[in-house]
Amino acid sequence: MKRILITGGASGLGAELARQYSAKGWTVCIADIQQALGETFVQELNQTFNNDCFFLPLDVTSEEQWQQAAQEIASRWKGLDCLVNNAGVASSGNIDQLSMKDFQWTLDINVMGVVKGCYVFTPMLKKSKGTIINVASAAGLMHMPSMSAYNVSKAAVVALSETLYAELDSAGVHVSVLCPAFFKTNLTDSMRATDQGGIAIANKLMERSSIQASDVARMTYEGAEKKQFYIVTHAKEKMMWRIKRYFPSYYFSQMKKLGSVFQRKTTGSKAA
Ligand SMILES: NC(=O)c1ccc[n+]([C@@H]2O[C@H](COP(=O)([O-])OP(=O)(O)OC[C@H]3O[C@@H](n4cnc5c(N)ncnc54)[C@H](O)[C@@H]3O)[C@@H](O)[C@H]2O)c1
Repeated sequence: MKRILITGGASGLGAELARQYSAKGWTVCIADIQQALGETFVQELNQTFNNDCFFLPLDVTSEEQWQQAAQEIASRWKGLDCLVNNAGVASSGNIDQLSMKDFQWTLDINVMGVVKGCYVFTPMLKKSKGTIINVASAAGLMHMPSMSAYNVSKAAVVALSETLYAELDSAGVHVSVLCPAFFKTNLTDSMRATDQGGIAIANKLMERSSIQASDVARMTYEGAEKKQFYIVTHAKEKMMWRIKRYFPSYYFSQMKKLGSVFQRKTTGSKAA
């Protein structure tokens, strides 16, 4: 049975990934800070799939807890086939308004949480010739105004993944980076924003998405199995990313318009 560890697996995309990998016959470790939710979910998985799934309390910002997780996986499973660095949080706000504390919070979880996971588990994945799936976002490829902390964090995950894709190839470790746009999960429950408008916009975009967490999870599974590197799930963002690369002036003119709208909304006047 193949072995997968999914951070942030108690909710949203992580939980969908856990369901779909379980359905394909994998055994799953759900690693999350939400212990009660994670343990209940693990029971559900074991009842449905009988796959010896288990919950591991893990705060991805703690290197010590990552080391403990690796010890637990090594003694229980004797190795790992796939690490999914999925745990993440969202934040929004203009650069002069989002507090440095909230900027740092975003980076600690979304960037260093992923870095620490790769650091601790790469030796094990080299032995199994396994896979790392890093969950970035379309925000790692295209950067909407008023979301600098989240954009920076997800661009860093893309950069880390591009680096490791090349660095670990000769060791037989495959890396995929997932870049979805909005889809409905519980992400806005923990979101930090300088005004409620940012959370309302994120909720609206999630509600409107024609792609669900189960679709994103299916595309992730299929992409990783095919050893795809970039997994960009939403067609519109895939097109926008192409426009950014081939027609940067047009791309930035649209982003500036959006920036001006956001400035008006937050300051009540048109930006200079
Ligand atoms: N939902 C979207 O629209 C969307 C779009 C693009 C990318 N993403 C990314 O998908 C990933 C999953 O998010 P989601 O949308 O399923 O949200 P979610 O809030 O439903 O799930 C996130 C999970 O991460 C866990 N988590 C948060 N901080 C943690 C920490 N320090 N240590 C361990 N676990 C922690 C939470 O407890 C939760 O279970 C995130 O990286 C997010 O940035 C989401």
